[in-house]
Amino acid sequence: MITSITGSQFGDEGKGKITDYLSANTDYVVRWSGGANAGHTIQVDNQQYKLKLIPSGVFQNKKVIITGNCIEDPISLEQELNYLAQYDIIPEIYLDTNCVLSLPIHKTVDFNNDKLLNIGTTKSGIGPTVSDFVNRIAIKVTDVVFGTHDEKLKTLIKFHTDYLEEVYEENLKALEILNELPVAFCSRKEIVARLNRAENIIFEGAQGTMLDINHGTYPYCTSTPCISSAIPYVIGIGNLKIDRNIGVFKPYVTRVGNGGFQTEILQGKVKDHLQLVGKEVGTNTGRTRRVGWLDLHDLKYACELNNFTELAVTKLDVLTGLESVGVLDKNKNWWSFNGWQTDITDCKTYESLPPAAYELLDFIEKQLELKISIVSVGPDRKQTIERSL
Ligand code: GDP
Ligand code: IMO
Ligand code: MG
Repeated sequence: MITSITGSQFGDEGKGKITDYLSANTDYVVRWSGGANAGHTIQVDNQQYKLKLIPSGVFQNKKVIITGNCIEDPISLEQELNYLAQYDIIPEIYLDTNCVLSLPIHKTVDFNNDKLLNIGTTKSGIGPTVSDFVNRIAIKVTDVVFGTHDEKLKTLIKFHTDYLEEVYEENLKALEILNELPVAFCSRKEIVARLNRAENIIFEGAQGTMLDINHGTYPYCTSTPCISSAIPYVIGIGNLKIDRNIGVFKPYVTRVGNGGFQTEILQGKVKDHLQLVGKEVGTNTGRTRRVGWLDLHDLKYACELNNFTELAVTKLDVLTGLESVGVLDKNKNWWSFNGWQTDITDCKTYESLPPAAYELLDFIEKQLELKISIVSVGPDRKQTIERSL
């Protein structure tokens, strides 16, 4: 069974939670895009964990693969491994040598560029790393493994700034961290062979469809592909067939960073409710997320781009307590649904949800012509309702 888990909105839909939940019976969990700009939160038995680069399967002791067009940041990867080690989690990681490396110099350039561009990036260096990649001066994992990184680094620095010895030293140190890390370096061929031998694989997306470099809200987007149809291409596994293509969404919308947001709520009680109850603060940057009503016009677009076979809705519990719930439908007409007041965080079945919640989900399914197979009613792994379709 090949499963893909993709963000359907502007990121932070709860991909990490759903990936962790579905990882129980998988052979590998694979990250195939994005980099340290991502922040995925997993909660198991009241313990919360945060990841940027390592796939969310590690809390179910699953082997993980980092491949495709992932942007690897050796400093961040080392920090994440140390963080996991505090919880006695020592993941088995296979890292594709084709991945591109993001260095301190990219963070500096990102920071300076964003002063001019005002995209509101995460300042993780993603845009400048991808620019270097497209300019064919990026340094890949394979360069460090085979020792060809040194000369390339000198060129890369000259490309961005007058050559400075201290900049070189700092970035060289970052690159060489990679040699110390307990990860298995693999060629594309080895990764594809592993995937071909596996029975169950989960592909964990990063960012969200509306942040995709090609089909998102350009230029207010990230620099990499985020939609599931990119998976075979970026990994180089032409025959990949996704069985469960899951789109994750919240029953409202959040966005960190700048750019258009049709259903944004700029002030008032509902805005405060969604931000406070939903704890809508960026995992990665600590920025408060902008919030708004569910936009089914955008979500329909996401379903079309990804060819989702099913949907997972997270944070349904966050709507509890609202008098009414607004929805922009796929034809851009506004609807208002009754809210509900009963706590749903202990609900175990779809049928036990309050009628108002049920009606909202029913409307979403009809509009998108897809079934919701997973409903998340709280951050914990246990607070997940699975529905057989
Ligand atoms: P990701 O980037 O898509 O993995 O999402 P993030 O982890 O950045 O943001 C989702 C946030 O919502 C995290 O803090 C999760 O712990 C939390 N979360 C996920 N599912 C639920 C849910 O059903 N209810 C509530 N209240 N929180 C949730
Ligand atoms: P996860 O995987 C939410 C946003 C940034 C900014 C834009 C460009 O946790 O869902 P970048 O640093 O990528 O150049 O920033 O994209 N962004 C995200 N927003 N969740 C993410 O990842 C994001 N990754 C990037 O806020 O608007
Ligand atoms: Mg996130």
